[in-house]
Amino acid sequence: MSTLPAFHSLTPADLTPAEWQPFLGGAVAPRPVAFASTVDAEGRVNLSPFSFFNVFSYSPPILVFSPVNRLRDGSPKHTLLNVRAVPEVVVHICDYALVQQLSLASAEYPAGVNEFGKAGLTELASECVRPPRVAEAPAAFECVVEQIVALAEGPGAGNLVVCRVVRAHFRQDVLLPDAAGIDPFKLDAVARLGGDWYCRASGASLFEVARPNRRLGMGLDQLPAPIRTSRLLTGNDLGQLANLERDALPTPAQVAAFRTEPALAYLLNKYGDDAPQLQQQLALLARQHLAEGRLLDAWKTLLVA
Ligand SMILES: Cc1cc2nc3c(=O)[nH]c(=O)nc-3n(C[C@H](O)[C@H](O)[C@H](O)COP(=O)(O)O)c2cc1C
Repeated sequence: MSTLPAFHSLTPADLTPAEWQPFLGGAVAPRPVAFASTVDAEGRVNLSPFSFFNVFSYSPPILVFSPVNRLRDGSPKHTLLNVRAVPEVVVHICDYALVQQLSLASAEYPAGVNEFGKAGLTELASECVRPPRVAEAPAAFECVVEQIVALAEGPGAGNLVVCRVVRAHFRQDVLLPDAAGIDPFKLDAVARLGGDWYCRASGASLFEVARPNRRLGMGLDQLPAPIRTSRLLTGNDLGQLANLERDALPTPAQVAAFRTEPALAYLLNKYGDDAPQLQQQLALLARQHLAEGRLLDAWKTLLVA
């Protein structure tokens, strides 16, 4: 693992909200995006994206998003005014196919302008709340607004809109088999980073990490010193190795039997007389096993030395 890098450190009080934005918005990323549909007291529809957003509770199911007061003049956004007047919202999750229309809906149209029309999206009547939902979105949560928490006054101040989901809709084609949940590859969700950057959760950018709470992994501090301090093994490599529970380590007999595995046998034969070279080559082979999800083979390879 590498030595500590240099850091650029800041104190929030020293920066204006506009100066902070590229750091906070750039570093807290990627953020999921709530595409929120609301209505005003006269029933006029609004649709806007908010990336200060997440899920905070399964039971009750709570989503929170935050329209911040406009940086320009501290005025509240239409969405905030709407949920104050009519405490209901439909929060949508958008896929890559919708990202340009979602962005268009973030333009500052005058109050009362329906961004469904501006963005060319189809209104569907909701079942439990007044704001309509976006037919094209792969997931939609009909919510009642339970609380609005103003975090401060002035430009850039956030307003937490705490939403309780009362009904949800998931497009059939994004479901896992037997409707057991959402297939991340099929959802093809987009997320927001700093500046004008977005990312797309698809293809090679999706990967799995074995959860440590299924078994109690030994932890990095319990790794044998030569493994823990190896210059060739990265933090990700060590994290995978340390996710094995102690009593699941290969036995000496299993390690000895593994010496005949062709790639390992080749290295033992070639570098048997050169201990430092052998250590290096074994670490590289172990990394290869880890990349292929062969955790026990990686361990056996490292324990051979
Ligand atoms: C992807 C994306 C994410 C955004 N996230 C937020 C956010 O979290 N909070 C916010 O106040 N504005 C956010 N904006 C800007 C608002 O969408 C924009 O100010 C919009 O005009 C607000 O509309 P309204 O005044 O009709 O509510 C975001 C814009 C985009 C394109």
